Amino acid sequence: MDYASIIEKAIAKFRRSAVIAAEDGLIPYQGNAARWTGSPWEGNSWWTCGFWPGLMWQLHVLSGDDFFKTEARRAEKLLVQELNTFRYLHHDVGFMYLLSTGADWKLTGDEASKTHTLHAASIMMGRFNPAGFIRAWNGADQAGYAIIDCMMNLSLLFWASRTTGDPRFAHVARIHADTALREFLRPDGSVSHIIEFDPVTGQRVAEHAGQGYCLGSQWSRGQAWGLYGFTLAYMNTQELRYLAAAEKIAANFIAHIRPDGLTDCDFCQPADEVRLDNLAGMIAACSLLELHKLTGNAAYDVAARRLVDGVIEHCCDWSEASCGILTHCTASYHDDGAGRHTNIIYGDYFFIEALAKLTGKDPMLWL
Ligand code: GLY
Repeated sequence: MDYASIIEKAIAKFRRSAVIAAEDGLIPYQGNAARWTGSPWEGNSWWTCGFWPGLMWQLHVLSGDDFFKTEARRAEKLLVQELNTFRYLHHDVGFMYLLSTGADWKLTGDEASKTHTLHAASIMMGRFNPAGFIRAWNGADQAGYAIIDCMMNLSLLFWASRTTGDPRFAHVARIHADTALREFLRPDGSVSHIIEFDPVTGQRVAEHAGQGYCLGSQWSRGQAWGLYGFTLAYMNTQELRYLAAAEKIAANFIAHIRPDGLTDCDFCQPADEVRLDNLAGMIAACSLLELHKLTGNAAYDVAARRLVDGVIEHCCDWSEASCGILTHCTASYHDDGAGRHTNIIYGDYFFIEALAKLTGKDPMLWL
């Protein structure tokens, strides 16, 4: 596959659709029409709002064009306002700020962006329950909820320790990662989405079904968050137990890649159900490419290329009728409110991150 020419096509499409986002003054969420749609809930506090500036930074690196930097910074300003509002922020400040303010600091050395990223890391620290986990969401009955997605957000804490020299952030990240290792990783290499703990004692209370098909099933995006999250935990710490977890999750994920290279929404969904989530496939592809570099195991590279080639062959929309590229993304198995079989911004983000890795140009914004 000629990944360099796919990148050129993506740069051309986003150069046009970034103008539309700026004209409308929004942070894109869904791009299946001639204009972008903003996030479905909670405005610019929605957990996906970092992916647009992250995508713009990736394109800036790939193209060398400052146009994308300017657009990344337009979105960054909106996200910085959310730090002050604070109302809806939760553990996903990792997704939101590593890819926006964190990327700006990493790529330009901008000091204000560094401060904002540390602010986000401090908010994340405030969600730590010393009983052993980072609280996920804000609901009144969710004090004991932890979710697998949080493994991705831990990178913000590891980054903060590296940047300040203060080990507290990394210490908290390791405690949460070890809890996830013990409580989320199943013997077959799949992971649970939500585990509820007693917020006072830290004892496990229940597993909840979350965004997958049913309780005990394998929501594919959750599998991908676990896969990339443990890979990043290893990259941040060099602790082999995290690498072993990532490899176990990888083996299960690879066994479920469809023959056409696309990804089902849940690996346990009924055989006659057609419900894809290419978001999951792109997140997994990024992680598998990192695992290939870390272990030298070519099977990871082969699997990642199957996923990327699958969406290039079947699920890319290059037309001017839409703003985004990757199709057939599904936010949640049973709730179509945030999108089913459509373009969703973090699908495009991870697609471009994977292409950047495949061409040796990824700035690795998660570290
Ligand atoms: N972090 C939420 C999701 O993957 O939908």
